[in-house]
Amino acid sequence: MPDTEIAPAQTGQHEPIPLRKLFEPVKVGPYDLRHRVVMAPLTRSRASRPGNIPSQLNACYYAQRASAALVISEATQVSMQGQGYAWTPGIHSREQIEGWRLVADAVHEAGGLMFMQLWHVGRISHPSLQPDEMLPVAPSAVRPQAEAFIENERGEGVLAPCVTPRALQVEEMPYLVRQYFRGARNAKAAGMDGVEVHGANGYLLDQFLLSGTNRRTDTYGGSSERRARLLFEVIEAVCEVWGPEKVGVRLSPLGTFNDMHDDYPEETFSYVIEKLSGYGLAYLHIVNPALAATADDVAFAERATRMNAMIRRTYRGVLMVAGGFDGSSAESWLEDGKADLIAFGRLFIANPDLPERFRSRAPLNAPDPSTFYGGGERGYTDYPSLAQERGDTPRSVIDGRWR
Ligand SMILES: Cc1cc2nc3c(=O)[nH]c(=O)nc-3n(C[C@H](O)[C@H](O)[C@H](O)COP(=O)(O)O)c2cc1C
Repeated sequence: MPDTEIAPAQTGQHEPIPLRKLFEPVKVGPYDLRHRVVMAPLTRSRASRPGNIPSQLNACYYAQRASAALVISEATQVSMQGQGYAWTPGIHSREQIEGWRLVADAVHEAGGLMFMQLWHVGRISHPSLQPDEMLPVAPSAVRPQAEAFIENERGEGVLAPCVTPRALQVEEMPYLVRQYFRGARNAKAAGMDGVEVHGANGYLLDQFLLSGTNRRTDTYGGSSERRARLLFEVIEAVCEVWGPEKVGVRLSPLGTFNDMHDDYPEETFSYVIEKLSGYGLAYLHIVNPALAATADDVAFAERATRMNAMIRRTYRGVLMVAGGFDGSSAESWLEDGKADLIAFGRLFIANPDLPERFRSRAPLNAPDPSTFYGGGERGYTDYPSLAQERGDTPRSVIDGRWR
């Protein structure tokens, strides 16, 4: 499943440390954020079909969460080739642009700010999701020990092993960059406030970046600089549409999700982060490498700490970190200057009014993993806000009203 190889979310009562930093305003590009509680990108596989088009249901879900300092959309494929899971939304057709407009308008009407995460899965796909049932593409023909989430003949979502992908020809690279460019332009047409380039979690850009998946000998493989070429070409194309101040980039150093590995991650990421610093982006978004550490792997935990410190030292700009945070740990990261913004994933799934719950120290609802992917309202738009728990607001939400 997408992006879920992680420890259980923190829920329950917060320890009584004052959450001051979390509620300090911060400037991100041209935007003044009211606080620092960001909604992380979260795939929910609930686009309407056929066509993988966002609907009023999705608009409702996002608008419920508009009190986030910034809402980052679920990963959104920039092309049919870029899709790796059933029912994820795209941003490559006219109908999808119109669907996303419903979402952007609803979030804006509820007072929120929204970036779209632009996605190409590369090898983490399956022929049944690809145009003409072709093979998924990748930097090299390296089969991942991973699974794609596909629709079976009965219309149900099932897991299927990924296949050996086709290595991209160098002549195809401009068309890949073009897919992101079009996605960025379409996100603008849909009324988004910016975009985030998904360079994390073992998808296409990460596959190019890491040596375990990139065995190329042309200008897109070999040194860190060459493996990072596609990432930077994509960032530059997207910045052409938006200007760098409305573009974020997400990376997952030391991440192993989707069968990823790099021989020299410190070298790879110090090169990338130093170069990213020069772009004047809205933010850099890091999936906390410590998230992949197991409790007894002290050496890995220390390596993750060093990686985080290197990133903070090297990156001259707004730094967002995600992964395993609750209110207290977020506050102490901000207090210690280790990040400027904290993104919350699973807690935002279960708590549409997460900032208010942090502020008032209200108990948190626990997320239900069985409803993360696919389905309808249940486990999506029916987690109650505090106002709904008190009975101040009706719980019905999909009739076009969301508060
Ligand atoms: C259901 C689910 C879907 C996710 N989808 C995405 C995604 O579309 N893009 C992405 O970059 N990360 C995705 N992630 C990772 C989250 O953004 C986040 O990094 C992760 O959940 C760790 O944060 P948390 O401990 O606050 O949940 C997903 C995670 C979950 C649980």
